[in-house]
Amino acid sequence: MSVDKDKITDLAVQRWATAHSPRVAELMTALVRHLHAFAREVELTEDEWMAAIEWLTAAGRMSDDKRQELILSSDVLGLSMLVVQLNNRFSPQATPATVLGPFHIDGSPAVAYGFDMSDGIPGTPLFITGKVTDTHGSPVAHAVLDAWQADADGAYESQLPDIDEARLRAKYRTREDGTYCIRTIAPRGYAIPMDGPVGRLVRATDISHFRPPHVHFLIEEPGYERLITHLFQEGGEYLDSDVVFGVEDALVVRFDACPAGAAPDGSVLAEPYLHAAYDFVLQPR
Ligand code: BEZ
Ligand code: FE
Repeated sequence: MSVDKDKITDLAVQRWATAHSPRVAELMTALVRHLHAFAREVELTEDEWMAAIEWLTAAGRMSDDKRQELILSSDVLGLSMLVVQLNNRFSPQATPATVLGPFHIDGSPAVAYGFDMSDGIPGTPLFITGKVTDTHGSPVAHAVLDAWQADADGAYESQLPDIDEARLRAKYRTREDGTYCIRTIAPRGYAIPMDGPVGRLVRATDISHFRPPHVHFLIEEPGYERLITHLFQEGGEYLDSDVVFGVEDALVVRFDACPAGAAPDGSVLAEPYLHAAYDFVLQPR
């Protein structure tokens, strides 16, 4: 039986509807419908289709356990942030989630209140302090705050060769009263990796390839939804053009400039520093 272009979509949908799992059937039939509609809408040429296949092949070849070009493509298309928003519909009081990004490393060392996770790496000292609470304002004790960030050159640990100690990442725990204190250095805005197929595509547009200055957090405590989020520096560059669409107003925080002297961790600093105060609010399960 010949398959003409008016029948092919229905036929492909019927075939994929036979998937043994109802969810796989739902996903695959919708995917077929949307892909076919896309090809029809833009009248996809064979050369364009082959260029797309070559692009996907290059993105796959470039990806490994340190570099994930396909996640990066999902990030710059806004798909990663959309999936975060669809899956983390917290109450309005809870701290919003944002993208995980490709640079989280499992197994960061557990450290004490006020520990300096920058450990001598050059930069302006930054303290981030506050509480972790539930949506009623009650403190959450012993919650784990896994924090990570780029250095002042915009490099994450996994982008640097031969690092054998945790660099700008650590796991803090809240105290009995829910308080935490992180010492680090001020993050800077940085460019996403531009040396692969995603970079080639982004360079063919007017899209800014920068992310605004931020520190990442993954906060976990039994009984609460896991919170993957960032804190962004108020007034930082690229807040209005984040290439991965990760900025939420509720995550933009003032980094107050403080003179040398008494610091939030109880120590005395010989140089001026920045201080960001932020209370994270976890969504009960
Ligand atoms: C990040 O914030 O680390 C990040 C997120 C998405 C793409 C690239 C980097
Ligand atoms: Fe980041």
